Amino acid sequence: MHKILANTVFLGKDIIYLTECHSTNDIAAQKIKEGSAKEGSIIVTDKQTKGRGQRGNRWFSEPEVNLTFSLVLSPVFLNAVSHFELNRVVSLAVFDTLSELVDGIKVKWPNDIVHEKQGKLGGILIENSISGKNIDNSIVGMGLNINQVNFPFPGPTSLAALSGQTYDKWEILGSILSCIEKRYLQLKRDDKERLHSDYWDHLFRKNILSEYEDEYGRFKGKIIGISSEGRLIVEKNNKELNHYAFKEVKFI
Ligand code: BTN
Repeated sequence: MHKILANTVFLGKDIIYLTECHSTNDIAAQKIKEGSAKEGSIIVTDKQTKGRGQRGNRWFSEPEVNLTFSLVLSPVFLNAVSHFELNRVVSLAVFDTLSELVDGIKVKWPNDIVHEKQGKLGGILIENSISGKNIDNSIVGMGLNINQVNFPFPGPTSLAALSGQTYDKWEILGSILSCIEKRYLQLKRDDKERLHSDYWDHLFRKNILSEYEDEYGRFKGKIIGISSEGRLIVEKNNKELNHYAFKEVKFI
């Protein structure tokens, strides 16, 4: 692994590199339990054999060519009901990095990084432990397709598939870490307004009539906002407004 030259104060100063592991999120959880991971620690692997995704899904990533890592944060200043703020921080940081490299990058509610026309580049799995009313530790897991060009099923894409170029993934990791740190400090000094407006500015499908599915079936609607708790506000064709929590609505 190349040296990660992250221009950061606390993120990525303690990097644990594993040639292979089952899930970097699980390793991070284990290290927190043992007391050997602190805020800013990163677990990164070149081959993840049992990557976990959202909704109990698996995360498949071709070994070597992509980024799969987890970082430990301790946002003890964050009330558990505001946990979506961290999704904004991390999604925007990835957006900040990737949009310097290719056009058409968007953040997709609640946890994805996509290209507006070509599909999903990466996903984020944040697992929080709560103490009292606040968050104690957060494990931020990220899978990002960088140089993979063949995918076993339709849907995903990568930086290389989008641009035809090959990237130094460690350089990209370094840049993501410094962007996460910047955005995290924005949250820490309570600059939520900026985080909310940037997230909205770069949101996939906002104000575009599209197809969704909720517990009542498929429907056409428009994303018209995100609530402060991170719910997706969709206006149905019949003008009815719905506030969806994660898992209550599916993009078709
Ligand atoms: C999703 O889109 O469903 C989220 C995918 C998150 C995958 C990453 S890869 C590194 C980290 N370790 C895991 O087991 N999962 C996350």
